[in-house]
Amino acid sequence: MHVTTDSSFLEQLTAITDGWDGSTERRYCHLCNVSALLNQQLENINWVGFYLMREDRQGLVLGPFQGKVACTDISLDRGVCGLAARTKESVRVDDVHTFPGHIACDSASMSELVVPLVSSSGDVVGVLDIDSAQRGRFSEDDQLLLERVAKIISGALWT
Ligand code: SME
Repeated sequence: MHVTTDSSFLEQLTAITDGWDGSTERRYCHLCNVSALLNQQLENINWVGFYLMREDRQGLVLGPFQGKVACTDISLDRGVCGLAARTKESVRVDDVHTFPGHIACDSASMSELVVPLVSSSGDVVGVLDIDSAQRGRFSEDDQLLLERVAKIISGALWT
């Protein structure tokens, strides 16, 4: 597994998402720190961050992230992010060049894992997107861990 097994990682994640005041600006503030924490903890990644559901629910818009400049808007019928948001399922792609409709923000990206963020009422509120320059970087264990991460984030910031 390429993700730290240090249990303090999840404790730290819980700590930095704790105490949200219900405002959009503070949600962004917490998500900024989450993207920084994930960037520190995950090996062999070149982009990690959030795309958040637009208010009109017609597409995703770029949120806090770490990595190179990225595309700002993704419609729900496009890309790995759109598929995860539309189906409410994680999407793990070993080789992005084989994924029809993949949106390349950084030409170095080879593999990608996108996990939906789902609110307590069951609505997709965004996605957590992670890219790697390594082919097949993300294992099933990584996916399970990142799904736990997504649950902690949505439980703390979309209640
Ligand atoms: N590759 C994504 C677009 C976002 S970037 O990876 C940061 C996609 O296909 O949805």
